Amino acid sequence: MKSLKIFIALVAVASLSSCNNKRKPQVQYMPDMYVSVPYDANGVRSAGDVPVNRLPVAGTVSRNGVVAYDILDTNEGYEKAKAELKNPLPQTEANLEKGKELYGIYCATCHGKKGDGNGVLSQRDKFSGIPKYNDPARNITEGSIYHVIMYGRNNMGSHASQLNYKERWQVVQYVEKLKSELK
Ligand code: HEC
Repeated sequence: MKSLKIFIALVAVASLSSCNNKRKPQVQYMPDMYVSVPYDANGVRSAGDVPVNRLPVAGTVSRNGVVAYDILDTNEGYEKAKAELKNPLPQTEANLEKGKELYGIYCATCHGKKGDGNGVLSQRDKFSGIPKYNDPARNITEGSIYHVIMYGRNNMGSHASQLNYKERWQVVQYVEKLKSELK
């Protein structure tokens, strides 16, 4: 009974002092009800001294739109991709449309809308050495385009983090279209 009285008195004091004066910090009784104590599993070890926050099993492949690319960033890798790597997406208007949109965002500033190497950055002399997609000396293929998006090439940086697997191949499809239309 005594503790109940104290509790009621506390509630009364708390409600009086906390609500009226907006300039003072409010009294918070029973803070555990407002601020939970999260259980931090990081670094915790379970029975048998096994870490709780275990890493995924070696070789685990994320299914979150990520597809592994196992061709290396070497000259041999480039040639292999150029010769063997094929676009897994079907040729559709929808893929081409999406590729065009992404190309406009990520590539056209340098390569130009038509893929002639004459984008805004090239016109303003910010970037040089941007090739035309139909440059016979380069002879780009669907595989080499994908490879270059993944790793970049010389002055061109990698675009692997801006585009996911499907988007890269959609861009490849669009670049091939531009290449075929260049004279
Ligand atoms: C900042 C400017 C810049 C951007 C943005 C850029 N590129 Fe490039 N790209 C270059 C330059 C410079 C080269 C020439 C690199 C070299 O010296 O071989 C190049 C080369 C290429 C090549 C030819 C590579 C080869 O095999 O010889 C392809 C294909 C290509 N880019 C595709 C793309 C695509 C697709 C995008 C957008 C996802 C893109 N680029 C974005 C500057 C850029």
